[in-house]
This record gives sequence, structure tokens and C-alpha cells, in this order.
Amino acid sequence: MMRPKTQDERDLLLYDSRLQRPVRMKTPEFERNGRIRHVIFSGQFTVPFLEELAGIADMIRMLSKSREGQDFLINLLPHKRAMLYFTQPSTRTFLSFNNACHILGMRTSEIRDPSTSSEVKGESFEDSIRTFSSYVDVIIMRTKESGRAAQAADLMNGIPRPVPVINAGSGSDQHPTQALLDIYTLQRSFEEHGGIDGKVIGMMGDLKRGRTVRSLCYLMKNYQGVRLVFIAPEQFAMQPDVKAHLDEHRIPYHETTRLDEALPSLDALYVTRMQTEWDTAGESRSVDLSRFSIGAPQLTRLKRDAIIMHPLPRGPEIDPSVDQDPRAMYWRQERNGMWMRAAVLMKIFGAEDRLSEIDPR
Ligand code: NCD
Repeated sequence: MMRPKTQDERDLLLYDSRLQRPVRMKTPEFERNGRIRHVIFSGQFTVPFLEELAGIADMIRMLSKSREGQDFLINLLPHKRAMLYFTQPSTRTFLSFNNACHILGMRTSEIRDPSTSSEVKGESFEDSIRTFSSYVDVIIMRTKESGRAAQAADLMNGIPRPVPVINAGSGSDQHPTQALLDIYTLQRSFEEHGGIDGKVIGMMGDLKRGRTVRSLCYLMKNYQGVRLVFIAPEQFAMQPDVKAHLDEHRIPYHETTRLDEALPSLDALYVTRMQTEWDTAGESRSVDLSRFSIGAPQLTRLKRDAIIMHPLPRGPEIDPSVDQDPRAMYWRQERNGMWMRAAVLMKIFGAEDRLSEIDPR
């Protein structure tokens, strides 16, 4: 890089190097008074936090079954407003966050199409984010570019009226709340089988460009004896940064292109689609997807109590007939997203203490 000449260039360099620091150095900046404030990377979560969040999500789920419980929840955060800034396509993450807000009585505003925001008039990303923060109490954001949520959180930490930032998917990099709902789904599924510790978890598909599997890998350091199996076409293998992290935390992983060989050893198979939107020259088309798909023949090789997950939307990699199989967990997984995201919002705003006021049964 060229030597910075002006003060602006020096500031930018400082700013860039601040954003480039490892997650463990940045984590304290995502907290305030010991409470989580910004949700940016899955690597920032600890075991006690994950367990507490799962407990809160369980409570919200139970309370939502009765009118009395729903009335209680809707009165928890009616004084808070959320901005949903989703400039990249989203169905589940958007709807589950929107409904999580509504369950807790929060009101929501949204921008889903950047052509309707002042960014088309040339307003900078920073100014847009700062503007949102003038009107709401939390910014939930999904962008096509990596690193934007981290940038927004950094910006918030330097202004007089900061609001929390939640990363709802940043490019092909991170999707921390997806990792939370995936962990919650694994925990619930293995509740009577010793929890997540010691399980063999397969991840299949476009592991190179899929942010969900990346974020989930960064959470695995919280569990003992987990082994990972990456099943991917060679050109879409898991990225070196994730592998380096797994090595650092001594989490064993095995890479293969043979689903049939991997299947019998798995306790969970996390299936993902080809991320074709990142293709520059139709790279995905060269993949024989039938080798990275699951249907009736593959089900016979999978353990009877294994589970099948998928962040959705699905492509051809899971045959719809699999939906009938009791091991198919993806529809429950998608609903878990709403409970877990409501739990995150409660934690951010400190509403979880109120749960002691009510019996969920
Ligand atoms: C995922 C995403 O957007 O990264 N979807 C989701 O949030 N449920 C997975 C995907 O699009 O493949």
C-alpha cells in the first residue's frame, strides 16, 4: 500500500486497521456494561451466553403458545423501535426478525431496496446508518458487501447517540444470528442425546461462499469433542481462514467429495445450496450437484437419529420428499430463528429479567 499523505488518508488507514483486528480484540467493543450490544461475528459468543439465549428462546416459545403469554411478551419492549435495513434479498431472516420484534411489541421500519434510500443521491453508508440511528433503537442490517455491520458498529461506538447493530448477513462472510438459531436447533435436537459435545457434524455444498457454514464453524470452539466433515466440490471447499481457526482451537475436520462415504458417521448433516449469486462466469454450473444432494437413497445411509438441517432457501440439494422424514429439521430450524432472534433482542435491551415474573406453563 502507498504511504498515506494526507490526514484523511492516515485516518482511513487507522480505521481500516481497526476493523481488521481479530474478533477477540473487537469483542469488548461489542459490549456495554457487561451486556451484549452489537451482534456482529459468531466468534463473539461464549458458552454461558449461548446457554442463556437458548433458555430465553425456550421461554418465548412456551409463552407464545397462550394468549396470556403473548400479552406478556408484547408488553416487554413496546417503547423500542427497530430499523430493518436489508439491501440484499431475504425472506426468512427478514420475516423472523420482523416478527421477533412484533412478538416483543417493538415497532419496525424497513429499507429493502437501496434505490428507495438516499444512497442513490450519493449519501455515504456512514451517513445513512447514522440517520437510521436518529430514529430507532436498534439497526438490523443485511448487505451484499462483507464487513458493513462491523463498520456500522464501529461508527456507532463513536457517536453521541449510538444504537446497537445486529448483523443479519454480511456478504459471503458472516451470518451470526443464523449460527445462533443453528446452535439452538442442534441443542434442541440433541437434548436427550448428550447435547452437541462429541457430535459429528457434516456440512455440505458451497462451503466457500456460504456464510452460514462459516459462522457455524466459528461457534464450534464452544463445544467439546465435536468433529466436522466438509463435503464439498473441490472448487467450493471451506476457506483457509475457517480452517486456520479450527486448527487453532484443535477442532478436527475432514474434507471429502464423497457424501456416500461420510453419511453413516454423521449425527447432523447441514446442507447448503450453491451460492450462484456470487458466480462471475457460471462457476456453479460445472458442479455435478447430484453428488452433493440428499434424497431417498441417501436417507437409508444416514443414522436413524441423525438430523438434516438447511438454512434455506433450498435448491435441488434436498429432494422435497425428504421433508416427510422425521430427521428433516429445516422447517423447525427456520421457526427457531424467530425465537432465537427475539431472545437476542431481549438480551440487548435487558428485558430477560422480566421473564421471572411469569410462569410459562
Ligand atoms: C442464508 C443466507 O442468506 O446466507 N439464508 C438465510 O439467511 N436463511 C443461506 C442462503 O441464502 O443460502
